[in-house]
Amino acid sequence: MNILGIETSCDETGVAVYSSTEGLLAHRLYSQAELHAEYGGVVPELASRDHVRKLLPLIRTTLERAGVQGPDIRGIAYTAGPGLAGALLSGAAVARSLAWAWKVPAVEVHHMEGHLLAPMLEEHPPAFPFVALLVSGGHSMLVKVEGIGRYSLMGESLDDAAGEAFDKTAKMLGLGYPGGPAIAARAEQGDPARFQFPRPMTDRPGLDFSFSGLKTYALTTMQKESAGLNGAALERLKSDIARAFEDAVVDTLVIKCRRAVRESGVNTLVLAGGVAANQRLREKINQMMGAEEGQAYYPRLAFCTDNGAMIAYAGWQRLRAGESQGLAFQARPRWSLMDLQSPRLNC
Ligand code: KG4
Ligand code: ZN
Repeated sequence: MNILGIETSCDETGVAVYSSTEGLLAHRLYSQAELHAEYGGVVPELASRDHVRKLLPLIRTTLERAGVQGPDIRGIAYTAGPGLAGALLSGAAVARSLAWAWKVPAVEVHHMEGHLLAPMLEEHPPAFPFVALLVSGGHSMLVKVEGIGRYSLMGESLDDAAGEAFDKTAKMLGLGYPGGPAIAARAEQGDPARFQFPRPMTDRPGLDFSFSGLKTYALTTMQKESAGLNGAALERLKSDIARAFEDAVVDTLVIKCRRAVRESGVNTLVLAGGVAANQRLREKINQMMGAEEGQAYYPRLAFCTDNGAMIAYAGWQRLRAGESQGLAFQARPRWSLMDLQSPRLNC
């Protein structure tokens, strides 16, 4: 059974074809990063319009690459939320229309369930149960995962998501958008010993996060240290702040993950979402999980950030259990991962 996956929740148009017998047949991504870069962040109306322009051509080329035709598609999975309302509606409208034309079922996919299950597309997937650190531009969560749709929240960000903190700090330093890769690149040149930023909420029990103070810490450090600087010295300062910021976020996430693994008694850890693409985070998590005699799993880099493959895969898990929705569709800009149920309960 071939499933078409469609992702349009934010600023990437992602399409994939997943075969239940052969695995992933093709995936294509169109990133709007350049479109939004001059504004320093995503402009929702521009995002929706661009999805409308790009989605159908991208579906056509993905089907070609997969070597399948419209009628070979037996189900459609699309991101219904959470995300930007207009962007979600663009994808939902196309998904529902194609499902109607091809007379196949279409299923709503929760974007964060897509991220959560992305490591399942790899050659060595994790087995349930596992603890998942979901760190994206909109969410930072620690979740205990007993199976598909069986999620319990262990901790979450009380303010900015980890990716959001990267994006805002990068914008403040003038490093561009998206901020995560920009900070990571500058941190490579930074001196790790020059500044020591706090590790928020690690000195008290619990698994919640708070990242907005770190962004302010970076801002005040910049204001204090940049007086009279220009040229190479100013660039060096930015690199040193980028390094201190990245180290603080990474250490904080690693400390909380270690706690979550110990508290849950589950020593399989999955990292997913855009921030899971961060190399320093992956290295430090590997070291920590090695010391805990556990194992960490990640999606390949292209499937950490938004993509259609994870949506096709997550949708297939629900379609195969008989789950689908009717012709009427809605966007769910706010939708808690904890509201999902196991697909077996619904059929
Ligand atoms: O999962 P994602 O593509 O979109 C959302 O669902 O939000 O995550 C995007 C976020 C952005 O905030 C971006 O700055 C961050 O992931 N990100 C990174 C890296 N690559 C992307 N953060 C840190 N290091 C990276 N290498
Ligand atoms: Zn995402």
